[in-house]
Amino acid sequence: MISLNVNEKDLQVDVDPETPLLWVLREHLDLPGTKYGCGVAQCGACVVHLEGEAVRSCVTKVKRAENKKVVTIEGLAENNDHPVQQAWTEVDVPQCGYCHSGQIMSAAVLLKENPNPTDEDIDLAMAGNICRCGTYSRIRKAIHVAAEINKSST
Ligand code: FES
Ligand code: FES
Repeated sequence: MISLNVNEKDLQVDVDPETPLLWVLREHLDLPGTKYGCGVAQCGACVVHLEGEAVRSCVTKVKRAENKKVVTIEGLAENNDHPVQQAWTEVDVPQCGYCHSGQIMSAAVLLKENPNPTDEDIDLAMAGNICRCGTYSRIRKAIHVAAEINKSST
């Protein structure tokens, strides 16, 4: 049994400790918002927060998350109203949408670490999140909008 705290809930899962966290979230905990893209840490579709850091859950063994706090897109904000999610809606960022849970999770960590990022900061921080639909300019714009929402709420 592995003890986890996922989206503020303490729970236990009966899985091989080597299992990627992604599959525990999707298959065992019924949290399908975190996506499988490449499986080899190259695309960012599977990003979740582990103790507040953005990690690629496809290559993170569940044992690394034992007794730690995991947050997925489903738990980022109670009403899906995290500033990044608000900005994503306002800018209408997604095209097919597949990459966006990972994009939003990465953007949330970026803004926590750098509340007022430049375009260059955004491009650097988000470089590991691939969007096959090419929504990069809207992602950049939405991150600036989220930074403004954050400022106006403090
Ligand atoms: S699925 Fe994890 S980085 Fe692509
Ligand atoms: S919106 Fe389609 S992959 Fe990003």
